[in-house]
Amino acid sequence: MTGKPVLDVRNLSVGYMTPRGFATAVDGVSLTIHEGETVGLVGESGCGKSTLAMAIMRLLGPGAYVTGGRIRIADRDIYRMGREELRQFRWTHVSMVFQSAMNVLNPVRTIGEQMVDTFRAHDPRMSKREAMERSAELLRIVRIDPARLGSFPHELSGGMRQRVVIAIAIAFKPKLVIMDEPTTALDVVVQRSILEQVMELQEQFGFSILFISHDITLVNRISNRVGVMYAGRLVEMSDSQLATEEPPLYHPYAMGLHRAIPTLDAGDDEISGIPGSPPVPLSMPPGCAFHPRCPYVRDACASIKPDLTRHGDYQIACHLTTDELRSFAHAD
Ligand SMILES: Nc1ncnc2c1ncn2[C@@H]1O[C@H](COP(=O)(O)OP(=O)(O)OP(=O)(O)O)[C@@H](O)[C@H]1O
Ligand SMILES: [Mg+2]
Repeated sequence: MTGKPVLDVRNLSVGYMTPRGFATAVDGVSLTIHEGETVGLVGESGCGKSTLAMAIMRLLGPGAYVTGGRIRIADRDIYRMGREELRQFRWTHVSMVFQSAMNVLNPVRTIGEQMVDTFRAHDPRMSKREAMERSAELLRIVRIDPARLGSFPHELSGGMRQRVVIAIAIAFKPKLVIMDEPTTALDVVVQRSILEQVMELQEQFGFSILFISHDITLVNRISNRVGVMYAGRLVEMSDSQLATEEPPLYHPYAMGLHRAIPTLDAGDDEISGIPGSPPVPLSMPPGCAFHPRCPYVRDACASIKPDLTRHGDYQIACHLTTDELRSFAHAD
């Protein structure tokens, strides 16, 4: 990608104060997203995806602390902004479609009232009528009949509610939209149509996307680059310009994710999940956190935390050599 960086996360660490101690949920993550780019982020439940997203929005709840690193959006350090500045910056520069977005809508207010509120919260001088017109226009953009402005959320289908939430996220033409599991609760047909629409909107408005999901097939389909998270760390990141003639390389954890994808012609016994379960923050294994589950584990893995290092078109945090990664990734 040649565009300017829209998001630049350096060495970010975030943790939660819990009754049993301080739990690190994001551990030294660095991530850059350029103009117009879609970067996917995958990983099992609890690996820190939403914590990273909330830190980027500076919306972490009480008990959550950024313990290191920095975040720049459109060249601005969002942790150095005052309250008012941050309020103006959010939604105009960076917005988010939250996990379980359908529940974000207020059930007792109409779609129109909620959209008008959003516009006027950002621009108190905007008249109600103008805000209503802008809301109708936004609904048209996401292919919902503006007559629906008078509907309550429960009168809309799940897919429609999701489109409303996406419409609100792009209302102020942000440079970056974070989508945290935006279609997980929807059936595959609706999911596909919403994703197609997201890509059309991106074409039209040019925003960048951080697309978070545990579904690696989905993420691969819509992203220019894909990052894989494990136990709070980024363990793999691909380049935007993959040399297509080379077969892909994977971190051993990502190999497991790929092998767990069911294919239409695979029998049940050919689908192998990753044995074991991900570690919890308060009892992280030393060294590489994946080592207790890794089929290729060696001595160094239990004591030395591997950093992301370059292997061809990929950055992979693993003690294996490029040749070993290649041969294991493509062994049957
Ligand atoms: N408010 C909180 N207090 C304490 N621990 C938390 C809190 N929120 C998240 N955690 C812990 O931080 C870790 C990362 O959680 P996070 O929600 O970021 O994961 P995730 O990758 O988004 O998972 P999922 O795929 O289930 O959404 C988990 O171990 C979780 O238990
Ligand atoms: Mg999450």
